[in-house]
Amino acid sequence: MVHATSIVELREHQGSNRDAPCVLVPTMGALHDGHASLIRQGALLARERGWGGGCIVSIFVNPTQFNDPADFERYPRTLDADLRLCQQAGANCVWTPHVTHIYPLGRTIEAPLLPRVAQAPGLEDAYRPGHFEGVCQVVARLFDLVKPKAAIFGEKDWQQLQVIRAMIAILMPGLEIVAGPTLREPDGLAMSSRNRFLSAEDRRRARAISLALCESNAAPDIDQAQANMRRVLASEQIELEYAVVRSEGTLEPGAGPWRALIAARVGSVRLIDNSPWRPSIQPRA
Ligand code: PAJ
Repeated sequence: MVHATSIVELREHQGSNRDAPCVLVPTMGALHDGHASLIRQGALLARERGWGGGCIVSIFVNPTQFNDPADFERYPRTLDADLRLCQQAGANCVWTPHVTHIYPLGRTIEAPLLPRVAQAPGLEDAYRPGHFEGVCQVVARLFDLVKPKAAIFGEKDWQQLQVIRAMIAILMPGLEIVAGPTLREPDGLAMSSRNRFLSAEDRRRARAISLALCESNAAPDIDQAQANMRRVLASEQIELEYAVVRSEGTLEPGAGPWRALIAARVGSVRLIDNSPWRPSIQPRA
């Protein structure tokens, strides 16, 4: 596995034949088994398709998607462990660009047009204004520099996945966006780089988030599903940002297929999770 720290080294890895197709797995590092599963999926996809460029993992903590500078500063950086995980998961190359490689003009590079799904009411944009502008800006730049044939994103960040799909449909329609399933801890908590900041007591309370998603699926309609989620989260005094059921593609209220989505603060840690939702058929009385 190659570790490229500059665009020149990335180009060297990609070789003279820059047309050799590759798969990109964009990350911000602090990698866990959820990331590893995306990398394994990427490596397998490249092998199955006979793509000579293999699977490239980018690790870059993107400053423009953090609305809180303190959150950016304290974002975990664990490069040595990340490189080991990438190697074990079958990556061909890990690219760790410097901020000046991504934003050569001092972060003023133009951000692509923000897809409508990024501003679906009451979701991420309401609580992290500007976040998806930063995500679209960095992902478009990573795609432009790596020129992958496919890229893998986790369902864990469901709204991000829809935003990237919408952006790519306009910007780079030849690029395939592949979704990877959410990996969970044994008690159901979705794996996240931020879980390490939970105190032991908050780690126990955080379990309520995946329980709330399960409970949403025991409801006959959307109102009841949302009420079920709020009740489970309140039982652990978890500070809720949103717990809603939306159309899975547009993330607006509307027709199915649906997705249940939660964002909540457990102590000082913001966690998000989601699952498919369908109305449960209630037994006749
Ligand atoms: P990051 O949070 O590092 O996540 C990188 C990828 O891993 C994302 O596609 C995310 O959905 C996926 N992921 C996170 N937790 C997962 C889990 N438990 N199971 C499966 N996949 C999981 O998302 C970002 O970075 C950034 O916004 C990025 C797209 C890299 C742009 O900066």
